[in-house]
Amino acid sequence: MHKGKGMKFVGDSRISAERISNVPKDYSEYPGRTEAFWPNFLLKEWLAGSVFLAGFLCLTLAHPSPLEGMADPTDAGYIPLPDWYFLFLYELLKYDFASGPYILFGIIIIPGLAFGGLLLAPFLDKGPGRRPHQRPVAVGMMLLALTSTIWLTYESAAGVDWEQRAEANKPVHPSEQADIDKDSDGYAIFENNCMSCHGEDLQGGAAGPPLTGIDHSAEEIKDIAQNGIGSMPPDQFSGSDEELDQLAEFIMSVNEDE
Ligand code: HEC
Repeated sequence: MHKGKGMKFVGDSRISAERISNVPKDYSEYPGRTEAFWPNFLLKEWLAGSVFLAGFLCLTLAHPSPLEGMADPTDAGYIPLPDWYFLFLYELLKYDFASGPYILFGIIIIPGLAFGGLLLAPFLDKGPGRRPHQRPVAVGMMLLALTSTIWLTYESAAGVDWEQRAEANKPVHPSEQADIDKDSDGYAIFENNCMSCHGEDLQGGAAGPPLTGIDHSAEEIKDIAQNGIGSMPPDQFSGSDEELDQLAEFIMSVNEDE
């Protein structure tokens, strides 16, 4: 016979005789609807995580992330861009409602609402169902976030010529760098007239091609400096004829070294 079975003990009136448990029922009472966190759930999470990790490792080995050249403070034409996973936030700032006088919307309020919504998601939609159509709020928020992130990233990336950008910002190995005498008079003239577009090391920039590895005579270089060529505007050079000779000679000398 079990001790106390079928009996009610009366004691302190502040303590309920029927003890109501505040411990949630065991998962085994909902067969098929839930599962143990340890080890079942954690194992699944871990498996999915390992697959992604291995995938990313293979991807980084097969396709290393491209590096750009050294930062060049003299290159006014360089347009800095955030990494791809932040492009959507960057794109947001191009819209009128999220820039200028409304910049606070772009930098704090909209991203804050989105990320805050992510944090609050479990509290905004507390329905017990696990199927998508039973969770309209959560699913709606997720779809909205997903589509806007993908759309903004696409909009931002579509306007950039990535090949050209990578070409113009290639990292240069020190051994491949042109041998440039930066103390020469020719370099000083280059610095004053041409560097803003053609780069500190004549490596080119967003506004102009490299001047290394070109095949022009001194006469042609002088002509280009004065009259421009293609998309290079004329009258980039200002100075004496003697300086123009020095400039052409300097650019020639850089190209001879190669
Ligand atoms: C406003 C930007 C800008 C400045 C400043 C500038 N250039 Fe250019 N330069 C360009 C662009 C853009 C091109 C490419 C033109 C084309 O092919 O359409 C170019 C092309 C050239 C070329 C031909 C390169 C080749 O591959 O054939 C030479 C040579 C050249 N520039 C010399 C100079 C010299 C010398 C100066 C200084 C006096 C100078 N540039 C200043 C923008 C500039």
